[in-house]
Amino acid sequence: MNALLTLSATEITTNRLRLRKAHDADIDGLIELQTDPQVRAHLGGPRPRGVVEQYFDANGISAIADKPGTYVIADEETDQFIGTLVLDRRSADLPGHVTEEGGELELSYLLRRGRWGAGLAFEAATAMLRAAAGELPDQPVLAVTQTANERSLKLATRLGFQRMGTFEAYDAEQTLAVADLHSFKARSPMSGPR
Ligand SMILES: CC(C)(COP(=O)(O)OP(=O)(O)OC[C@H]1O[C@@H](n2cnc3c(N)ncnc32)[C@H](O)[C@@H]1OP(=O)(O)O)[C@@H](O)C(=O)NCCC(=O)NCCS
Repeated sequence: MNALLTLSATEITTNRLRLRKAHDADIDGLIELQTDPQVRAHLGGPRPRGVVEQYFDANGISAIADKPGTYVIADEETDQFIGTLVLDRRSADLPGHVTEEGGELELSYLLRRGRWGAGLAFEAATAMLRAAAGELPDQPVLAVTQTANERSLKLATRLGFQRMGTFEAYDAEQTLAVADLHSFKARSPMSGPR
């Protein structure tokens, strides 16, 4: 695994968004992400609400708030929860790698259903990857998504990720895509291809 694990910035702002650490007021939104059938359509299906609520009752927000590279995407004006964005390391135990040792940076994104289709995931991911490119040495960043997850693949492509191939996991075909971290250095969150 590479040195300098992941992004350390605690807050990143864009025109419309604030990427920040999670706090207690985000719990309802986080529960919604885990239990919404549309959000979870390509992520193994919705989790039972009771199980998710129990998790937050037992662990509070800190399990998410303290995770390196894990951010809440919030509305810049109202601070309302929109989704989550994570830049962490893909465990060498999982399939889907572009280096022999594994542990590459991996991007993942989840937005509340009501906020899809406005370019918000693109804006958030661009800002996060640009911040990471300013902090970390150049290295590959992975995006792994079910091949059937058209919105996610489209977003990865718009961000500049290149498809490397596919593999089977969780009873579904997964697409592995990769980008060079430093390709995001000069990227503006509002200037991506539409
Ligand atoms: C994957 C996911 C984050 C994509 O969300 P999204 O809103 O479609 O993604 P983007 O931010 O790229 O927005 C693109 C859409 O916004 C539109 N848009 C509107 N204003 C825009 C702007 N200012 N800039 C860019 N796009 C804009 C685009 O035209 C595009 O619309 P279309 O989908 O009708 O073609 C979302 O579908 C999701 O949360 N899915 C469930 C979780 C999941 O499967 N995650 C992937 C595995 S990690």
